[in-house]
Amino acid sequence: MAIKKGAEIEPVKGKLGVLLVGLGAVSTTFIAGVEAIKKGLAEPIGSLTQMGAIRLGKRTDNRVPFVKDFIPLADLNDLVFGAWDIFPDSAYEAAMHAGVLEKELLAQLKTALQKIKPMSAVFDQSYVKRLSGTNVKDGANKMELAEQLMTDIAEFKRKNKCSRLVMIWAASTEVFLKQHAVHKTLKSFEQAMRDNHKAIAPSMVYAYAALKSGVPFANGAPNLTVDIPAMLELAQQNNLPVCGKDFKTGQTLMKTIIAPGLKSRMLGLHGWYSTNILGNRDGEVLDDPDSFKTKEESKLSVLEYILQPEVYPQLYKDFSHVVRINYYPPRGDNKEGWDNIDIFGWLGYPMQIKIDFLCRDSILAAPIVLDLALFMDLAQRVGMKGVQEWLSFYFKSPQTAPGLYPEHDIFIQLMKLKNTLRHLRGEDLITHLGLEYYD
Ligand SMILES: NC(=O)c1ccc[n+]([C@@H]2O[C@H](COP(=O)([O-])OP(=O)(O)OC[C@H]3O[C@@H](n4cnc5c(N)ncnc54)[C@H](O)[C@@H]3O)[C@@H](O)[C@H]2O)c1
Repeated sequence: MAIKKGAEIEPVKGKLGVLLVGLGAVSTTFIAGVEAIKKGLAEPIGSLTQMGAIRLGKRTDNRVPFVKDFIPLADLNDLVFGAWDIFPDSAYEAAMHAGVLEKELLAQLKTALQKIKPMSAVFDQSYVKRLSGTNVKDGANKMELAEQLMTDIAEFKRKNKCSRLVMIWAASTEVFLKQHAVHKTLKSFEQAMRDNHKAIAPSMVYAYAALKSGVPFANGAPNLTVDIPAMLELAQQNNLPVCGKDFKTGQTLMKTIIAPGLKSRMLGLHGWYSTNILGNRDGEVLDDPDSFKTKEESKLSVLEYILQPEVYPQLYKDFSHVVRINYYPPRGDNKEGWDNIDIFGWLGYPMQIKIDFLCRDSILAAPIVLDLALFMDLAQRVGMKGVQEWLSFYFKSPQTAPGLYPEHDIFIQLMKLKNTLRHLRGEDLITHLGLEYYD
């Protein structure tokens, strides 16, 4: 049943444990960032929960509170971090290895970061071919591995005296998997775990352990993971929110900003060629064609949905869309994304747009992790269960209810998110109609 307008929200009390799968570039940039912000060394730039405001009522009402003052969200001082990784490095060592943040800043955060040591991972190289590590659990089958994760979760909660937990997948992109018959029901999924079926990827083992332990799960990579009926059944059963997939950062962020603008002016598209050079571990993993395939699927779908070629065939039928990722070590995390966009205007006259985005992948991803942790915790305190489509704003390939197409236009996504917050607080939704100002 849908959540009622002005629904009761359980107050934020106690500590919120943020459990990260993967302690790589994104996770350490997120954790170190929160620690730096708590010390007053930096600002939470890029985070809607920390910096965003929300208009309420009429434009003449002048009511524009900050999101965090409008709706009860966990305070940064109440966050505790835990992680799993196949490498035993602490968050400090992993952040130094990732090379995203400056050594001088990390040195000031060393004590807090060194305390975060990753728990041993559930990992199988057949799902991430370019990696191998030693900090890995042993188990007779995938169900037993999930049980070990559940023990980790319970121990973490007890040791850190957390009142609530959320889990976020920020580990490597797994090889491309299609939905399989064993994913259809919880029963067949659990049997497949006991049978060590190859359709059960490690990310699914984590998601299963989270949902069994009463922990919301967000998926920052394009893997299938919670986007299968068995997981949705478990989320419904345990009243838990889930969301995914694939953090929307660099090039796809730009795409979902620009494409809605082109469409709004009825400008046509012949083609959109996107290529990236990237030198971090994520780039290395994506250099494997099977992992890249998962990413490519996630990146390719956005234009089709935004431009609706079936509605506007004269403008968007058969446009060419190519996405490439090239592993180029010297660049590290500082990705360069090029876009060549061939558009056409009045009477079919061609024009071009070139974008050269010198971005920093993890700098764009870290605030997304923070917002998702806080909003997923909000969702669990409100009792919102199943797919959280209002969090599409953060994803390249938003998970939706079965049979619904995803909304990729970032402006629609933002409106959906803010209207959800207004709804939860019993405020009127904003439609931007505005005729009443002229009565
Ligand atoms: N940075 C971005 O802008 C961005 C955007 C969208 C999605 N993502 C996705 O987020 C994920 C993390 O990105 P990153 O740049 O931090 O990568 P990374 O390679 O620096 O970190 C990933 C970490 O996950 C660990 N890992 C792999 N499999 C694991 C498992 N089964 N259990 C526990 N740990 C495991 C790896 O050892 C590594 O330390 C990737 O899947 C990436 O595709 C990143």
